[in-house]
Amino acid sequence: MTIKVTPLSDALGAEVTGVDLRERLSDVDRKNMEDAFIKHLVLVVRDQELNPRQYMTATRLFGKPMRQYFSDMILEEQPEIVVIDSREAPLLPNGEPRLVGSGAWHSDHTNTLQPPKVTVLYAIVLPRKGGTTGFANMHMAYDALPEDEKVKVDQMRTVNTLGKVINQVSTADLEEFGKPCVHPLARTHPVTGKKAIYVGPVKVECIVGMGQDESRRYIRELQERVIQPDIIYRHYWKPGDLLMWDNRSVAHKAFRDYDHMEGRIMHRIILEGDVPV
Ligand code: SIN
Repeated sequence: MTIKVTPLSDALGAEVTGVDLRERLSDVDRKNMEDAFIKHLVLVVRDQELNPRQYMTATRLFGKPMRQYFSDMILEEQPEIVVIDSREAPLLPNGEPRLVGSGAWHSDHTNTLQPPKVTVLYAIVLPRKGGTTGFANMHMAYDALPEDEKVKVDQMRTVNTLGKVINQVSTADLEEFGKPCVHPLARTHPVTGKKAIYVGPVKVECIVGMGQDESRRYIRELQERVIQPDIIYRHYWKPGDLLMWDNRSVAHKAFRDYDHMEGRIMHRIILEGDVPV
């Protein structure tokens, strides 16, 4: 079987067809997928029919699964998989669901010292309409900054904690994942050497040397300025899609464009990464 890689936008994202992840990949196909991942940052592998064990085995080709902090959403038979089910979302005081997958642009698990290099989502149940996910190329976001601001951003460090993300997290996991850690606001990709703006705003306590309000304002304003339509790919899910993104250089956001009670179920795996530098 030979895989076919077709770009999905000018900024990032490619579709991969001609691969059945239940089968062993040839060395050539594997290398082509790895290269395509580094080049396009988001890969959508179409038409997969995987049970949880096969899904786990397939993602192991790209790295080592790591533990996620959503303790209450772990799939018992395969504890590296977290089940994101929109119908299970707890309600906010205003009656809106607190859905997993922030509605704001972010990288995953930035509250950990070694955040994941890759996040993988496998579509299990999709709503009839909506349930889309946006991806932004944060290398392009960094490159778009004026030179003097690049110098400023290069020196900034964010202090990250689980903060308000406490739903569906056990006390033991809060203990393990709740410790603050510091990351650069612009990180260098360990493979390509390219810089990317790297942030999960909900987890940011502050930027080192700045107050909390000022830090959050700066990050919000920075994201609004740099995350423009020309650096975004918006994914309209199809049944059987297995999608993986480079969490080191891609920000993502889950659009709230569907009826959460209808049910949108994703199986999520994250793969171990390096300490951001
Ligand atoms: C996530 O933020 O990891 C989930 C995104 C989604 O559900 O589309």
